[in-house]
Amino acid sequence: MTLRLPDPRMERVLLTESQIDAVVGELADQVAADYSGRDPVLVTVLRGGLFFLSDLCRRIDLPLTVDFMAVTSYGPGAAGSVRITKDLDDPVEGRDVLVVEDIIDTGLTLNYLLRVLRQRRPASLAVCTLLDKDVRRLVDLPIVYRGFSVPDRFLVGYGLDLEGQWRELPYVATLKDEIWERG
Ligand code: PRP
Repeated sequence: MTLRLPDPRMERVLLTESQIDAVVGELADQVAADYSGRDPVLVTVLRGGLFFLSDLCRRIDLPLTVDFMAVTSYGPGAAGSVRITKDLDDPVEGRDVLVVEDIIDTGLTLNYLLRVLRQRRPASLAVCTLLDKDVRRLVDLPIVYRGFSVPDRFLVGYGLDLEGQWRELPYVATLKDEIWERG
C-alpha cells in the first residue's frame, strides 16, 4: 500500500517507518555492545534530535541518562558560528558521552559542540547520527554510528522540519524541488 503524503509540497517517502525502525534497532545494539558495563549519557541537540534520541535510548539495553542542548547558528556556510542557547543540565566530566543527532549536514554545528564538550573532560566522546548528508560536509567529524547516508535534498519527518512542521512524522520524506531553494 502506498502511503498518502499529508501535504502536496512533499515529493516522496525516502525512508519508511520500518526502515528507520530496523536501523534504530541495529544502532542501539551496536551502542549497547560497545558501551557494555558503562552507563553513557546520550546528549542531543534540540529540537530535531529528540525524536531519534527517544527511540534509540529505549532500544539500548544499558543503564543510561539523557541530556539536551540547544544552539543557534549565525551566518552562512563555514563563516557561520554557533551559540549555545540551552546548555546541558549535568556535568559530563568523567562520563561516556554519546552525541545523538538526527542529521549532520555541513558538520559545523557538531564540530563546535564537540569542541565545547571535549573541554569538559568526558571519559569518552562519540557521535551517533541517524542521517548523514555527507555530500555537504565541510569539516571532518568522528562519526562512530551512522544510520543512513542521504542525498542533498530538503528532508522532513522524524525530527526534520519545514518551518517547525512535520517533525512528528514517523518517516522521512523529500520536498518537491520547486518548494525548496537553498538560501
Ligand atoms: C539540524 C540538525 C543539526 C544541524 C546540522 O538542526 O539537528 O543540529 O541541523 O547541520 P550542520 O551539520 O550543517 O551544522 P537545525 O539547525 O535544523 O535545528 P532543529 O533541530 O531545531 O530543526
